[in-house]
Order: sequence, then structure tokens, then C-alpha cells
Amino acid sequence: VEETYIMVKPDGVQRGLVGEIISRFEKKGFRLTGLKLFQCPKELAEEHYKDLKTKSFFPKLINYITSGPVVCMAWEGVGAVASARKLIGSTNPLQAEPGTIRGDLAVQTGRNVVHGSDSPENGKREIALWFKEGELCQWTAVQAPWLRE
Ligand code: GTP
Ligand code: MG
Repeated sequence: VEETYIMVKPDGVQRGLVGEIISRFEKKGFRLTGLKLFQCPKELAEEHYKDLKTKSFFPKLINYITSGPVVCMAWEGVGAVASARKLIGSTNPLQAEPGTIRGDLAVQTGRNVVHGSDSPENGKREIALWFKEGELCQWTAVQAPWLRE
């Protein structure tokens, strides 16, 4: 089972899209193992996006992610990382397919409402970065036998 770190970015919170975004992952059949509203400090945003440090948009990206509270989530499921990326859609919302979160709910790369881990390794890394151990919760979903044969 794979874990992925999903985050509603500050624009998603401000635009009232938290419920809509959580709902899409819930309905897909992933299992929620962590959830919190959180004001991200600059240092954490920089660590999270450290691979993009050399990009010209990096300072803007850090300002964006720290501009208001985010909703941090850990989701688990078979193939959850790639599947979540598909549900989220392309980085540029204008190129994201209709039916995806960004395709349906956003118009600009710099305000693309949601983050999703890009590999199982980064899923683990990001969940460890954004959550303390006691904040995560393992539980048995009663719907499990109705999701997989
Ligand atoms: P995340 O799920 O947030 O990691 O997005 P991604 O994996 O689709 O894209 P990537 O990791 O390459 O970039 C991370 C984030 O940086 C994007 O989601 C955007 O919010 C932002 N970003 C990427 N490219 C640009 C850009 O050219 N301009 C601006 N302003 N922001 C960008
Ligand atoms: Mg990324």
C-alpha cells in the first residue's frame, strides 16, 4: 500500500474548496490517515519544495504556500501516488483535463489549489515532514471489501 501527501494550498482554503477536494479523494476510495489545517512556516515550505530552489519562481512559490493556512492530508491506497496525480491534473490548470481538480477548479500554475507527491519515496518523505507521528491514524475502513475483490 502506498501513501501520498496531498495538500490544499492557501488559495484552495480561501476559495472554500477544501470540502470539494477532500471529497474527491474520499470518493475515489483512498484511506485518510492524517488531516490538519496548518499555517506553514517559511522554512518548511522551502524544505518541501527544495528540488525547485534554483527556479526563478521559487520565491513566489514560497510566498504563495505560506500566504495563509493549508490543509495537510495523508492518504493511503494501492497506487495512490500516481492515481492522486491523475485526479489532480497537470501543473498548469489551463492544460489540466476537465474532470481533474485543477482542470475543474483553477486557471493558473501559480494558483493551482492542490499539491500531490510525485513518487512513493516523496510521499513518505513529505508525510514525515508535515506530520508528527501522533498526528497520523491507522484504521480499518469497513468499505474495504467493496473496493477490491
Ligand atoms: P505540486 O503538486 O505542488 O508539487 O505541483 P506539480 O508537481 O504539478 O509541479 P512542480 O512540482 O513542478 O511545481 C510545484 C509548484 O510550483 C506548482 O504546483 C506550482 O504551484 C508552482 N510552479 C511550478 N512552475 C511554476 C511557474 O512556472 N510559475 C509559478 N508562478 N509557479 C510555478
Ligand atoms: Mg511537484
